[in-house]
Amino acid sequence: MRVIFIGPPGAGKGTQAAKVVERWGVAHISTGDILRANVKKGTPLGLKAKEYMNAGQLVPDEVIIAMMKDRLREADCADGFILDGFPRTVPQAEALDALMKELQLDLDSALLFQVDDDTVVERLSGRRVCRKCGAIYHATFHPTAVEGVCDVCGGEIYQREDDRESVIRQRLAVYHEQTAPLIDYYRGQSRLLEVDAAGSSDSVLAVLESTLGA
Ligand code: AP5
Repeated sequence: MRVIFIGPPGAGKGTQAAKVVERWGVAHISTGDILRANVKKGTPLGLKAKEYMNAGQLVPDEVIIAMMKDRLREADCADGFILDGFPRTVPQAEALDALMKELQLDLDSALLFQVDDDTVVERLSGRRVCRKCGAIYHATFHPTAVEGVCDVCGGEIYQREDDRESVIRQRLAVYHEQTAPLIDYYRGQSRLLEVDAAGSSDSVLAVLESTLGA
């Protein structure tokens, strides 16, 4: 399985990717997670990316493309992958096509998570994440059993810097302007599959499983 998850911020891409990779045993490659890990470690990549991320802007294409060229050559990608958050612009999609050709691999599909802007704001303003293992929660829809403590690993729960409402609105504007053109890009390649992501997490997973052919 080699699949791309496309959708606005907060559509549930990370939540569903975690479940799908558990079932299919493929690699989950989240560009947002890779960038945040680099920000945390203070690497040159992290220092470059931090300002863009906190402002709700995209990190420049050349930085992301170089990062993904390395990542997709790693051994865990051999049995397939879910790309969560990449590509996010047409130049990134073109670079991915070129890389797939070079690696003699084929993309199966691009899954579009469809959800409206108000739902995105509600989901992201309530999102909480484990600092240690990255598990995703929501203050209302999926709270931890003990406030501030991860159910999975006992790590500390925090709110992402870019989950403030003003930054969420900016990320949405960037999505509509720079990422939404990918819908036509993958439709043109007959790879686009649309998923209604507005329902409960379990109902979205059921749709995904039938779409992906479980
Ligand atoms: P990234 O981390 O990729 O953020 P994003 O795409 O904005 O997506 P999110 O992680 O915010 O949302 P999600 O769809 O994964 O939702 P989640 O499952 O967490 O990127 C961050 C930044 O990095 C970007 O802004 C950019 O600066 C940079 N970047 C990354 N990739 C880049 C690239 N390729 N090019 C350039 N820059 C790049 O769910 C959200 C919340 O909703 C959670 O609380 C969850 O519990 C809840 N929830 C999920 N599903 C449901 C449901 N069905 N019902 C109710 N609640 C739900």
